[in-house]
Amino acid sequence: MVLENGYTLGFLGSGKMGTAVLAAAIAGAEAAKAQNLPDAIVPGRFVVSVRTAKSRVRLQERFGDKVTVVTDNQKVIDESNVVVLGFKPYMAQDILNRLHYSHFTILISLLAGTSIESIRQFTSVNTFIVRATTNTAAQCGQGMTALSYQGEYHPDSPITLAVEWLFNQTGKFVMVEESKQDACVALCGSAPAFTYLFMEALIDGAVKSGLPLETAQTMAAQVVLGAGHMAQVTGRHPASLRGDVCTPGGTTINGLAILEDRAVRGAVIGALDKATNISQDIGRAANENTASLDQARVASHINLAEMAQQISISRRNTLNAARQPSL
Ligand SMILES: NC(=O)c1ccc[n+]([C@@H]2O[C@H](COP(=O)([O-])OP(=O)(O)OC[C@H]3O[C@@H](n4cnc5c(N)ncnc54)[C@H](OP(=O)(O)O)[C@@H]3O)[C@@H](O)[C@H]2O)c1
Repeated sequence: MVLENGYTLGFLGSGKMGTAVLAAAIAGAEAAKAQNLPDAIVPGRFVVSVRTAKSRVRLQERFGDKVTVVTDNQKVIDESNVVVLGFKPYMAQDILNRLHYSHFTILISLLAGTSIESIRQFTSVNTFIVRATTNTAAQCGQGMTALSYQGEYHPDSPITLAVEWLFNQTGKFVMVEESKQDACVALCGSAPAFTYLFMEALIDGAVKSGLPLETAQTMAAQVVLGAGHMAQVTGRHPASLRGDVCTPGGTTINGLAILEDRAVRGAVIGALDKATNISQDIGRAANENTASLDQARVASHINLAEMAQQISISRRNTLNAARQPSL
């Protein structure tokens, strides 16, 4: 397969997460074009499918003619070399099973919990699958992505170069074993929301102490950014950085004592643990479906599309009953 500079990057689904990655990719591609990097493997065209007219208008208003927006998923597969999967995990089987993969396609799955093997079962041997757990800060180049590749990792392959270019535009990335992806869903995917909650509390506390809301909001954002930046540039453990600002008997150690007394640390650990477990549950649900798909394939020669539909209907019923989590 040839993956050349100017290739087409597709998106199946572009809501909060897909749009964040799309925005970073467009910005990066424009910057690369301006720099004229002949050896880079950078997308030159973007084609995106969504379900509703509302989302089509949203994307057209935001990106104009930089993006072709369609409602036909097959068109995205047919026209793209690399396709980002940006729909919800419970939709995977229903969407992917209906498509035909007539040429070799690299699929980058943003789906929480859903394993590479599940995606492979829902697609065809004509695909190469990469799992990427990221977050919405990707849209301003400050995302954190955990990457796992199907099979062996080849650092110099065009696939790796294209994927790593993409996630360099969205922020930082690390390679992880696929078995660690559920923990990454909790830390990279969910923890930004935990941090926003902490920021809200900082703002509320500052307002309670007399600061105007706008001032408190500006300060809280910079405090969180600054703390993260310090941890990054010094490479020091946060406990050590915290030690630097605790004057004996001072304001900080007294404030920290309240946080420890109210078990904030334990609550955060619990939140990450819960998010990891939910991601594992999503994965188990997908695996059960691929297992039932395999058994059905062996048991009879019924039409594959019909079978996929039957399984997805029974799955949708189960999922409706269980009310799937949003990640
Ligand atoms: N949000 C996060 O912070 C986050 C973090 C980590 C991972 N993720 C993962 O990212 C994925 C997307 O999450 P999200 O929060 O971005 O969800 P979202 O905002 O609900 O976006 C879902 C997208 O899928 C589209 N879609 C729905 N049905 C479709 C179909 N049949 N064919 C094609 N597209 C279809 C939707 O189109 P319409 O808008 O037209 O309905 C929408 O663009 C999930 O798998 C999630 O696990 C999200």
